[in-house]
Amino acid sequence: MSTNIESHLVENRIFKPSKELSKKAHITSLAEYMELYRKSIINPEKFWAKQAGELLFWRKKWKTVLEWKEPFAKWFVGGKLNVSENCLDRHLTGATRNKAALIWEGEPGDKVTLTYQQLHREVCKFANVLKRNHIKKGDRVIIYMPMCPEAAIAMLACARIGAIHSVVFGGFSSESIKDRIKDCGARMVITADGGYRRGAIVPLKKNVDDALKDNEQIERVIVFRRANNEIHIKEGRDAWWHREMEYVDGNCPPELMDSEDPLYILYTSGSTGKPKGIMHTSAGYLLGTALTTKYVFDLKSEDIYWCTADIGWVTGHSYTVYGPLCNGATVLIYEGAPNWPEPDRLWELIEEYGVTLLYTAPTAIRAFIRWGDEYPNQHDLSSLRLLGTVGEPINPEAWMWYHTVIGGGRCPIVDTWWQTETGAIMITPLPGATPLKPGSATLPFFGIDAAVVDDQGEEVPPNVGGKLVVRKPWPSMLRTIWGDKQRYKKQYWSEVKGCYFTGDGARRDKDGYFWIVGRIDDVLNVAGHRLGTSEIESALVSHPCVAEAAVVGRPDEIKGQAVVAFVTLKEKEHPTPELREKLRQHVATAIGAIAKPDDIRFAEGLPKTRSGKIMRRLLKEIAGGGQVTGDTTTLEDFNVLAKLKGVHD
Ligand code: WT7
Repeated sequence: MSTNIESHLVENRIFKPSKELSKKAHITSLAEYMELYRKSIINPEKFWAKQAGELLFWRKKWKTVLEWKEPFAKWFVGGKLNVSENCLDRHLTGATRNKAALIWEGEPGDKVTLTYQQLHREVCKFANVLKRNHIKKGDRVIIYMPMCPEAAIAMLACARIGAIHSVVFGGFSSESIKDRIKDCGARMVITADGGYRRGAIVPLKKNVDDALKDNEQIERVIVFRRANNEIHIKEGRDAWWHREMEYVDGNCPPELMDSEDPLYILYTSGSTGKPKGIMHTSAGYLLGTALTTKYVFDLKSEDIYWCTADIGWVTGHSYTVYGPLCNGATVLIYEGAPNWPEPDRLWELIEEYGVTLLYTAPTAIRAFIRWGDEYPNQHDLSSLRLLGTVGEPINPEAWMWYHTVIGGGRCPIVDTWWQTETGAIMITPLPGATPLKPGSATLPFFGIDAAVVDDQGEEVPPNVGGKLVVRKPWPSMLRTIWGDKQRYKKQYWSEVKGCYFTGDGARRDKDGYFWIVGRIDDVLNVAGHRLGTSEIESALVSHPCVAEAAVVGRPDEIKGQAVVAFVTLKEKEHPTPELREKLRQHVATAIGAIAKPDDIRFAEGLPKTRSGKIMRRLLKEIAGGGQVTGDTTTLEDFNVLAKLKGVHD
């Protein structure tokens, strides 16, 4: 039996960058990319050192580019800098001083714009608030905030004084806050009274209060007034943000930080077991995010850039805060739900602010498709010049919709593959250089030695699936799992010798393009054939009636595993036995009989994490007819699960 993952879905569409785009882009042709990539891989340290010198502002230059004692890396050893100074102060000398850094709109429609000078002042003041409350370099601070400028201000203020932030997504429960406080040993929580979501108020402060019952560890809670909902203030522990800001001035020199001083800890949901505190450090992380923001989005000074991810995810850290601000970009932040008050809110915002770069997730795109074209069609989206996706493989049909309906056929799509652990984008098109293939994240970024290998660590031939690994360290990689070096080693550096193992399965086509086939743990084994989940899902989504699909295996006496597909239909479609048969046939035609689902279950929704990833583990349990037993605390909507259990016809 072969251990390689088979691939059957063929995608032949190709979209070349327009001449006009290429001419103005940072990287202007595939040949230029190839040459730069080749050099960057022959001598990565030379490449990264050059970039670090050009892109970052150093207080003291490094002595050694890389110290590598597998699996522990130190980049730019001996160098000193401050991340907040790189994101703010350096933009205050020229015209960017008065440029909008953050443009914010709350869900109810309130608006705030902060120029670089104003943002700098707020960050300095809040950094002084932290100091006033005895937070110092190396202390851990939890940030549990709605999507508002103050969330970014809190992060940058921590960076300014060298405190290590750990942002907890505002949709998580008090249990999650409690676990994270404990794991990272935080001394302070920064939160808000509440935040708006679908017209309701999320009681953030109340959740913090619940998390802090019987807690002796947290000395201070700073509360930003956002939603004006009633809250409890615990004397001696809690303090209002606006009150604290009255006691401080706007002068706060940045703390000199070592390149390798920790910048933040971010917990990944981790579908099983205890959440992992992914630790990133200062210089390498900033370099990775700043460089990729510049090249992947082909950033220009006049852009209005919008990444829709919440600041509670790594995408919000790297591509709303650190990467764009380090480049002096103008960033849009929106507080609420994309379908509030109507499913056209995103498109309304794009029209209103003239957004030029939009970065969002496939799961959101599939929801937009499901809601209908009439919503984007009501708005003028002609300001957009580039689109991006991240988080999951994008099904080619969803890619085509994004390209046509949102991008008007004129905007390139950058399908960016990376992880919380990688810190920055790793596999991605460069808009002026890379011909696009719908569904492929295309080629590795400069300095990233990505490969697809078999169980022995040997690179597999074109179009054979295997494990996606990175064979050399890179500056923005995680340095460890907070407090658990052993787990770091085991999780990422023990599966394939000498390589960082991503946990993903992938293949490369004859042009070297990467196609992510899903998580390795989700790969199916049907009668000795190893099939990735994403191709079967893409085949289902390519049927005009289907909005979304998730494929899992069910134990089968004869075949080992049978293919079970959970399918949600577009708004106006209805589940029927005929449609089920048609869909099975559709997969057989698109991929081959081997992938034909044994069972198709229609569902109103699929169980997802708060970041939009389908929880296949739960579907596996349901498909196998068993009880859902594992941890479900990261599940977004419990109703979906309850309904799924009842769906059997
Ligand atoms: C996992 C990482 C990276 C920020 C958001 C998610 C999947 C991510 C892609 C893509 C196919 C993708 C992978 C990866 N993934 N981007 N463009 N194509 N799959 O961060 O929660 O750490 O998840 O998301 O499976 O390992 P994360």
